[in-house]
Amino acid sequence: MTLNEDRRTRRGHGSSGIPTTRFIPPTPPTDRSTASELAGERVPPLSLVSGEPAPPRIVAVANQKGGVGKTTTSVSLAACLSERGLQILVVDLDPQGNASTGLGIARDRRPLTTYDVLTGAAPLGSSIVASPATGVHVVPATIDLAGIEVELATQLARESRLSRALTGQVRDFDVVLLDCPPSLGLLTVNALVAAEELLVPIQCEYYALEGLGLLLANAALIRENVNPALAVSGILLTMFDPRIKLAEQVVADVRAHFGPLVFETVIPRAVRLAEAPGFGLPITLYDPGSRASEAYRAVAEEFLARDRVAPLAAWTGTGWNGAAAVTGDASVDPAEEHSRVSTGRGGSE
Ligand SMILES: Nc1ncnc2c1ncn2[C@@H]1O[C@H](COP(=O)(O)OP(=O)(O)O)[C@@H](O)[C@H]1O
Ligand SMILES: [Mg+2]
Repeated sequence: MTLNEDRRTRRGHGSSGIPTTRFIPPTPPTDRSTASELAGERVPPLSLVSGEPAPPRIVAVANQKGGVGKTTTSVSLAACLSERGLQILVVDLDPQGNASTGLGIARDRRPLTTYDVLTGAAPLGSSIVASPATGVHVVPATIDLAGIEVELATQLARESRLSRALTGQVRDFDVVLLDCPPSLGLLTVNALVAAEELLVPIQCEYYALEGLGLLLANAALIRENVNPALAVSGILLTMFDPRIKLAEQVVADVRAHFGPLVFETVIPRAVRLAEAPGFGLPITLYDPGSRASEAYRAVAEEFLARDRVAPLAAWTGTGWNGAAAVTGDASVDPAEEHSRVSTGRGGSE
């Protein structure tokens, strides 16, 4: 049995190719070594035998604004990456559980959730369930998660709970997407401590950049103090509506200031994307040929190609120098930009 066949079997993919059963965490290589050592064999590292998979890319999909497309991006990107044969885990970090619902995990299929994982009641591996999209698995969330800040208030190292929970539990995945709630609280901080990449969806709307400086400043703080691996892997413009003149302007402004950090692909406003969660399906299964599916496929391609383009080091703490690295202009500040984009262009259309 090849490693991939072995992986598929362990993930419970039925003959239809649709995963049907609870994810069973991979057997740690140490088990194998121990067994072989007991048998008196000398065992070369697993990677030399079968090409052990590289550790997954762990990506926080975050923006403290609600309704900007974090969950839609997590779900759709997961599905598009899985179409390319990758194994994806979506960790639902929002008490509203929208990513879980959007990936077809009914309430009765959430016996163990992110809450149990973060409180230490259950190992992350035991909470993973399969979604209707082959290759996409989910750590679901329920409203219980809303109490986590209070629950962990007196606990030490509460900001690294997720990071520790992921350790050793996700080596069979290629990408782990952390779908953050609309706040900069403990859950988002846990995501930024656990992740190596930060993907920020921005709605092509008024106040597009509002709060972005604060998010990046928080990420920079976490990078300096806890997680030096953290980098911005991309800014994704979402819900673009060409009928709204301001949308074009927002795209131009965001590109001018964040340069190559911004995905080339812009996600259109598309009613199919808004409908899909109601059916518990990612867009690629709900309407595979739609332009929304195509747009997220293009994002997946860019995501795989870019692999952490711009380090957060460009954030100085008082201003954003990411654009300066690209344009030579060191004076760019998202806060200023916010006031320009959000207040300087008249009413919406
Ligand atoms: N590109 C899009 N076109 C149309 N509706 C969208 C699009 N992206 C997201 N939506 C809808 O907008 C709402 C907010 O999106 P969501 O992804 O849940 O945002 P967030 O997770 O940032 O709060 C949802 O109802 C979602 O279905
Ligand atoms: Mg959400």
